[in-house]
Amino acid sequence: MRYRELMIATSSEGKIIELSALLSPIRLIRPPKVLNIEEGPCSYLENAYLKARSYFEEFKIPALAEDSGLEVSALGGMPGVFSSRFSELEFGGKESETGTAANIRKLLRLMEGKEDRSALFRCVLLIYDSEGGLWAQGVCRGEITTIPRGARGFGYDPIFKPLGEDRTMAELTAEEKNAISHRGIAARRLLELLSG
Ligand code: IMP
Repeated sequence: MRYRELMIATSSEGKIIELSALLSPIRLIRPPKVLNIEEGPCSYLENAYLKARSYFEEFKIPALAEDSGLEVSALGGMPGVFSSRFSELEFGGKESETGTAANIRKLLRLMEGKEDRSALFRCVLLIYDSEGGLWAQGVCRGEITTIPRGARGFGYDPIFKPLGEDRTMAELTAEEKNAISHRGIAARRLLELLSG
C-alpha cells in the first residue's frame, strides 16, 4: 500500500468513523487543528481538491479529503454540493434553524406531493501529496422516504432508502451501510487504485 497513514481533511465525525473502517489498513490521522476552508459552489471534486491541498500545504502530510452530497431528481439534483447547508440556502426557502434536522425538514417539505422520489448519494474521495493527487467516486441510488426512520448513520440517512432495501440508511448497521454506500464504493475504488 502506497500510504500507511493519511491526514483526514474533515471534522465530520460521521465521515471519519466510516472512512477509518473503509480504508483500513491505512491509518487516518485527525488534523491538530481544523482549517477554515470556504467551500464554493463548486463540484465535489473541486471541493475535495481544495480541502486536501490546503491540509497538505499546512501540515505537510499526505491528505485525504471527502466531499459528498445528496442529489434529488425532482429537485433538479439539489441539494448536491449544498447538502450540509441546505436549510440556509435561498433555494426552496430558508429554514428558521440550521443543521441536520432543519435540512431534513426542508427536503421533506419540498418533496411533498412529488411522485418521483428517486435520489442518489455521491461521494468523491481525493488524496493530495507532493506528487499530485488521485481520486475516486462512488454513487448509491435510492429514494426519499416521506418520514424519517432510524437512528444510525448521520445527515440524510433517516430519509434515504437505498434501492432494493426496505430500511433507510439510518436503520442499517454500519457494516451494511458501508457495503452499499457511496462512501464505501469510493473507498474500495481508491484502495484498488493505491494497490494497482
Ligand atoms: P460536505 O461534504 O462536508 O459538504 O457535506 C456533505 C453533506 O452531505 C453531509 O453534511 C450530509 O448532509 C450529506 N451526506 C453525505 N454523505 C452522507 C451519508 O452517508 N449519509 C447522510 N448524509 C450524507
